[in-house]
Amino acid sequence: MAESQRYSVSPAGEKFPVPAEEEYVKELERLEKLTDGARAEGKEIVVVMGVGFVGAVMAAIVADTTDDRGKSSKFVIGCQRPSTRSYWKIPLLNKGLSPVKAEDPEVDPMIARCVKEKKTLVATYNADCLKYADCVVVDVQCDYTKNELGNMKTGETEMAALEATLKTIGQKIGPECLVLIETTVAPGTTEFVAWPILKKAFAKRGIESEPLLAHSYERVMPGKEYVKSIRDFWRVCAGCNAAARKRVEKFLHEVLNTKDFPLTVMDRPIESETAKIVENSYRATTLAFLNEWSLFAERNGVDLIKVIQAIGMRPTHSNIIFPGPGIGGYCLPKDGGLGYWAYKHLLGFQDGDEIFKITPTAIDINDTRGLHVAELVRDALRNMGRYIAGADVLICGASYRQDVGDTRYSGSEMVVRKLTEMGAEMRVHDPYVDHWYELESQDTYPAPGLSWARFFRNQHVLKGTVVQKDLEHALEGAEAVILAVPHEPYLDLEPTEVVQWAGAPLAVIDCFGILPDDKIRKYFELGCEVKGLGRGHINRIKKEVQVGSSVEG
Ligand SMILES: NC(=O)c1ccc[n+]([C@@H]2O[C@H](COP(=O)([O-])OP(=O)(O)OC[C@H]3O[C@@H](n4cnc5c(N)ncnc54)[C@H](O)[C@@H]3O)[C@@H](O)[C@H]2O)c1
Repeated sequence: MAESQRYSVSPAGEKFPVPAEEEYVKELERLEKLTDGARAEGKEIVVVMGVGFVGAVMAAIVADTTDDRGKSSKFVIGCQRPSTRSYWKIPLLNKGLSPVKAEDPEVDPMIARCVKEKKTLVATYNADCLKYADCVVVDVQCDYTKNELGNMKTGETEMAALEATLKTIGQKIGPECLVLIETTVAPGTTEFVAWPILKKAFAKRGIESEPLLAHSYERVMPGKEYVKSIRDFWRVCAGCNAAARKRVEKFLHEVLNTKDFPLTVMDRPIESETAKIVENSYRATTLAFLNEWSLFAERNGVDLIKVIQAIGMRPTHSNIIFPGPGIGGYCLPKDGGLGYWAYKHLLGFQDGDEIFKITPTAIDINDTRGLHVAELVRDALRNMGRYIAGADVLICGASYRQDVGDTRYSGSEMVVRKLTEMGAEMRVHDPYVDHWYELESQDTYPAPGLSWARFFRNQHVLKGTVVQKDLEHALEGAEAVILAVPHEPYLDLEPTEVVQWAGAPLAVIDCFGILPDDKIRKYFELGCEVKGLGRGHINRIKKEVQVGSSVEG
């Protein structure tokens, strides 16, 4: 067997041998002992399938649950496939270490506490543990693959992992076990895909009762309040039948803070599933809506940032936000696609293109907004008498939003790819990101053949991308700097400092309304060129500085 097939390597570079066939029996014996002990103490056994961004933290929250007397009431097994790509999460979790990197200071101690002190959390690769479960929480991914850039309608839902997980669950759980799907799915999946899979598996095993299946979607937000966004946040749920509904309500009341954040119970899972898709499509749409006004502002001397601040004073419009260079994260770029796809492929309607106008357009706009940043960099350099081809360009911020290290589908990736195609020499700085896997591992990440690299030419150079941490060093000799994400350390940067570190005046591109007017003015005074998304007033400041210097001269 090849070396790479026998080991799973963690992001920190730690190598774990993937367990061999003969180790499964021993592993199950270990789990049986642990679950016997937990049951004897009156604990419920919960298996969380998929210990990724959501599952790992959800598993810890459930494991941290106590009853009215403050006694731990759940024993949790996080279960993960032992693939070379993902296996490392299991030994890491079993050491009490989080498999996900989180900015929330609550994550690491919570996982350590549950694994090492309370002993209410373990992880395994052996899915036979499902037979011990009173409840299974499904947190595996369900992706939406786009086949063209800027045309989400030709994409497709990729639910193989979810279907495989459900088949395994159906083969192994007891008849009274509650199965709770938390994965964001194409509406209809719980009732029309998952339930039939479980029913068939039960029938094959001679189990006569209906499987207890429910849906409740996650609203987790990566960042400083990761745990709170799961535990102390409103939830929506629904069961496939009355018994499942009762069980899911009980479970969520036990593990989440539903006292302060009341639970909404829907009649059917398709309603809970649709709520998630509409919630995220609404957000994607309001963000995409500002793209046209951002371009309007740039061409008509208007600062859209100030326009948004003015509008936001009105309480009914206070959540209006500027879209930046694209709308990334795992959810907003794909969730509307799941809805569009479900309408045709799960629910059987042929008129999807007649009824879905806004959601697909919004996603397409968001997916391609970053391309305009490349135009701004090109134009700013041109105004300084330089070409983009061969220019050293630093992008500040690789993640999809401020003060998090999550790079999935970030607007910055689109910017870097387009500028690389145009011949720029890209450098990257981000205080929160250690590895930009979308670039470094573009042959296999997010999956083989699915990198955004396929939409651009000359992307191979990006595999060598190193995310720099020392801004002063990263800026040395840069001809352009793109302020792509409003990370805290970028907010207070002084123009004199930036120009000094760069060693000469440079092009400054503001993608998120980071620069106040006095700093824009200062950059011009220092001989720089400034451009910004939605910031049409910059030219006015430039002219004022030019007039001022000619008067002085
Ligand atoms: N990450 C977020 O910010 C966020 C927010 C809200 C909702 N969600 C939703 O939550 C769901 C999970 O997202 P995530 O970010 O945790 O994804 P993820 O890719 O980080 O994690 C999924 C995990 O499931 C594992 N897995 C895949 N197939 C499996 C199988 N057959 N058996 C066991 N494990 C398996 C994968 O290896 C991976 O570790 C998605 O539907 C997503 O849309 C995510």
